[in-house]
Amino acid sequence: MTIELTSGHLHDIRHTIRKDDVLQIFLKYGLKWLPNDHGSVVTNPEQFDYYEWYFAYGQLLQPKTILEIGVFGGASVLFLCLGYGTSPDFIQLVDNQTYPHLLKDAVDRIRTVADRAVIDAIMFDSQRMPSLPNSANVQFDIISIDGDHRIGPCYHDLHIAAPNLAADGHILCDDARHGDVSSAIDRYLSEHPELADLYVETLTGTRILHRQDNGHLERCPLLR
Ligand SMILES: C[S@@+](CC[C@H](N)C(=O)[O-])C[C@H]1O[C@@H](n2cnc3c(N)ncnc32)[C@H](O)[C@@H]1O
Repeated sequence: MTIELTSGHLHDIRHTIRKDDVLQIFLKYGLKWLPNDHGSVVTNPEQFDYYEWYFAYGQLLQPKTILEIGVFGGASVLFLCLGYGTSPDFIQLVDNQTYPHLLKDAVDRIRTVADRAVIDAIMFDSQRMPSLPNSANVQFDIISIDGDHRIGPCYHDLHIAAPNLAADGHILCDDARHGDVSSAIDRYLSEHPELADLYVETLTGTRILHRQDNGHLERCPLLR
């Protein structure tokens, strides 16, 4: 089932952070907009609505545990934590530094707001992980998939990450306007009917997969 989340659904929470505040946070935490290796822009200066939403997800979903595959400068996790308003307990980060950045810098940046979190940063190619290294068997409240956007690799990231999703947890898939990302999600969902699919109309497009084991979609906090 696909439900399109429009500003009508999320109007209130989306406006809990103003565009100017997003820019100030970028400056404060030393976040940059960098060209990617294809010469296009990863995050435009105008792309505030993307991070506004991550702030809103953090505020609404209050994630104690976060996993992200594809971290870059750490902005998405940083905004989730800022929206949450307190430190999560556990954050796992996976990135192989394909882009010109250091995972360590992202960890240091996230640490300034997630001061009580155990942060497990794994600098490794997710495509070479047969499963997510998760010896403590953490169940993640939010999983952010934002690594290799090609269909096969994106499907693989979903495949290794989703088994670690908490009951009632949410998977955020960025760049859903990207055809390969959307195809990868469609393929994964066709095999996993327990996940509901919500589409959020942002500049990049975000699809949110909600695990429904303990209830129905109307119980999803994002639809309140
Ligand atoms: C679009 S950026 C992530 C942006 C970040 N989530 C944010 O909002 O700031 C994609 C990231 O995925 C990482 N990446 C790409 N392929 C990967 C792979 N196979 N394994 C791990 N990380 C990968 C890149 O190094 C890059 O940091």
